[in-house]
Amino acid sequence: MLALLSTMPSFQRHVFVCTNERPADDPRGSCKAKGGVEVRDKMKAELKARGISKLVRANNAGCLDQCERGVTVVVYPEQVWYGGVTVDDVVEIVDKHLVGGEVVDRLLIPNQPHLQSHQLVQLRVEKPKS
Ligand code: FES
Repeated sequence: MLALLSTMPSFQRHVFVCTNERPADDPRGSCKAKGGVEVRDKMKAELKARGISKLVRANNAGCLDQCERGVTVVVYPEQVWYGGVTVDDVVEIVDKHLVGGEVVDRLLIPNQPHLQSHQLVQLRVEKPKS
């Protein structure tokens, strides 16, 4: 069991991007139609470009039940919910939140009282040993 645990990846943050798809005539809409796949792809590319894809994982998510808010993104372990996320917002989320440990206020979905008592932390990046 210990051997298995030692090979598990140790992500400091997980980013779930809704890429759920519904028929075009569904009144709830869907994040895929609003650019969810492009947001996910940009998120993965930005994490890779910064060399932090082993520290922060970006994944697809099915419907996160916030469909009316556009592309929904949730970051764990802090449980920070962003709505209406576009490709143009990804760099700010990566730099400010995922690396810097600060919430991107302008993208927050309302009514997240848990954020008032939660202390976010900067990403811990180990410097390569020389
Ligand atoms: S379709 Fe994305 S939150 Fe529901």
